[in-house]
Formats: sequence, C-alpha cells, structure tokens
Amino acid sequence: MTHILGIESSCDETAAAVVIDGQTIASSVVASQIDLHARYGGVFPEIASRAHAEAISTVVAQAMSEADISYDALDAIAVTRGPGLVGSLLVGINFAKGLALATDKPLLGINHLEGHIYSLWLTEAEQEPQFPVLILIVSGGHTELLLMRGHGDYERLGGTTDDAAGEAFDKVGRLLDLPFPGGPNIERAASEGSADAFSFPRAKTEAPFDFSFSGLKTAVMREATVAPSAAERGGTPGARRKKPMLRSDISVNDIAASFQHALVDALVDKTAKAATAYGVSEILIAGGVSANTMLRQAMHEATDLPVRYPPLSLCTDNAAMIAAAGHHRFLAGLRSSLDFDALPMWPLSSKTYDE
Ligand code: KG4
Ligand code: ZN
Repeated sequence: MTHILGIESSCDETAAAVVIDGQTIASSVVASQIDLHARYGGVFPEIASRAHAEAISTVVAQAMSEADISYDALDAIAVTRGPGLVGSLLVGINFAKGLALATDKPLLGINHLEGHIYSLWLTEAEQEPQFPVLILIVSGGHTELLLMRGHGDYERLGGTTDDAAGEAFDKVGRLLDLPFPGGPNIERAASEGSADAFSFPRAKTEAPFDFSFSGLKTAVMREATVAPSAAERGGTPGARRKKPMLRSDISVNDIAASFQHALVDALVDKTAKAATAYGVSEILIAGGVSANTMLRQAMHEATDLPVRYPPLSLCTDNAAMIAAAGHHRFLAGLRSSLDFDALPMWPLSSKTYDE
C-alpha cells in the first residue's frame, strides 16, 4: 500500500493531497486564486506565483492534517514539474524539494497532463479503466487526444493547432462579458439559450485527429460584437475604446449555446472517430472542460463504448491527481533527483520521463 503526498501549483490553484494506492483520497485541499485573477479576465502569472508562495505551506499542512498522517508514513512526494507557468511551477517544486530533503522521502516530478489522466483512477468504480483506452484531455491550456495502452504508455494522436478548448471558452466568455473563468459561465448561459440560433463553423484540420478553435472564436466575435469606430479608437485617452463591444440586440445565451454546441461537436466527432480507428475499449475525458455537461452527454450519444470522466471536483486542477499519477510512477521505479528543473513545455508521451 502506498501513501503519496501530491503537490500542484502549475496554474492558478495551489493544491496538496494525500492519496492511498493511487485510488483513495485521504485528503485533497485546493486553494483557488480565481477571485484574484477575475478582474484581469485571465490568469496573471506574477500574481499567481506570489499567491502560490503565500498559500503553499498552509495548504500542504492542511492536507497532511486532514489525512491524519505523519511525514514518516509517506512513501513519496509527487509534485507537478510541468507543463505550466514557470514561476508557479517553481513554488511547488521548491517546496516539494525542501520537504523531500527534510523528510528523506523520494521525490517524483510529475507531468500535469498525466495527472489529469490519473484523476480517472481516483474512483469508487468497481472496475478500473480497461486498456487500450482513448483519452481526451481538455483544459485551459491543453486539448490532447492520446491512446493509452498501459500505465505510462502513451501515443499522441492529435491535439489543438491553436487555442485549447478551455482557452476558447475563456476567450468567448470575455467577449460575451461573462465572468472568468468562461467555461462554467458559458455553460450556465447556454442552458438558457438555443444551440441552433447560430451556425458556427467546425474547423477542418490537416491531420485527422487535430482540433482548431481560433476560427470558431473569430466567428463568434464577428456575430456578437461591433468593432470600435475610427472616432472611438482615436478619442481622448481614457475615452478610447479598442475592444470590440457586445451587440445590444443579440442574445448572449443563444450565442453561448451555439458556441458550446459547435465546440463540443468538434471534440466529440474526432474523439469518436479515433476510438473506432484505434479499437479502444473505453473513452476517458479529463481536464477542466470535462466538467461540461453537454460534452459528457454528447460523447455518450456519439459512441457505444463506455465513457468515463472524473467527478466534478477532480475535473479542474487538484493535487490528488498528481499523487495518483505519482503512485504509478513510484511503482514503476521512477525517482527524480533533487536538482530537476521546471518544464513549462513538457509534452506527454511514453518517453516523457526518460531523462
Ligand atoms: O484543468 P483546468 O483546471 O486547468 C488547466 O490545466 O488548464 O481547466 C480550466 C479550464 C478553464 O478554461 C475553464 O473555463 C474550463 O476548464 N472549464 C469549463 C467548465 N469548467 C471549467 N469549460 C466548459 N464547461 C465547464 N463546465
Ligand atoms: Zn490542468
């Protein structure tokens, strides 16, 4: 039986968790910075790293105390090494290194995307996912389609060529003057609107399992906003308006519903086709956007295969998923040295941990 402490600080959540055997959550603490970033309409990196530095020791202490476990009883400390914001990653990594040194426990630098995948093993389900599985990771920073043949065995089938799915939700949310983050707020607005009100494009991509969302975002902007006039652009400072303005004669709910429909359609279409092409036994969806109800429903409707997604609390960033990924890396004999660097860009493949 393993007890792993996970630490996550790659973006705007400072999180720590203790997980038993990669499956049972003994504690999971998440300190969200959403309120701090909301006024900027997105994550502000400098503010994020400072907030991580302020929160991390309390968050880790709380996770240890809620799990009612001593450092002595831990098998390892797993921390997100990348991808993510470098200043934010470094706060978690340096804290974990100090802890590993002080407690003489092994340290594991974990890929954040692999963490999202292992959120699907943190479940009470009777049966674990059966390999080979197809994985769609949809978050604020990533949209990746992966074939997973076994633990740590990944083949990348495709991904976004421009914006990530969550990024598209966030950008369109901003266009529609909805609060940050866009995803849950667009979902709420969409539930009151008509998905057929506008017909937005589904982008064609060169590779069969790639995605592209920037054209969709531009189409929404064209439909929903008016550009500032020459007079508005050139007015006195302070009175100048550079940002496109939301049209007053348009239903935000209809735009939100039609946008969500187009984006979900694109995700589901490629995922279902890849599932057939690779003969997988299950489809797994993870990452912040996997919280989206429309996406979950549409995926079920598009395939006869079992579709799994994490419980809502584990869709967005958390440290239990990092500890769960750490469990499998620990069993595979992986140990990180105390001098590893943060990796802001770190693609996930079977070679991810070959250093
Ligand atoms: O996984 P996550 O917490 O952070 C990253 O690793 O990026 O994902 C955050 C993203 C944000 O873009 C947010 O708008 C989106 O997930 N999101 C949603 C929903 N809840 C969160 N998107 C669509 N529908 C939702 N219900
Ligand atoms: Zn994430």
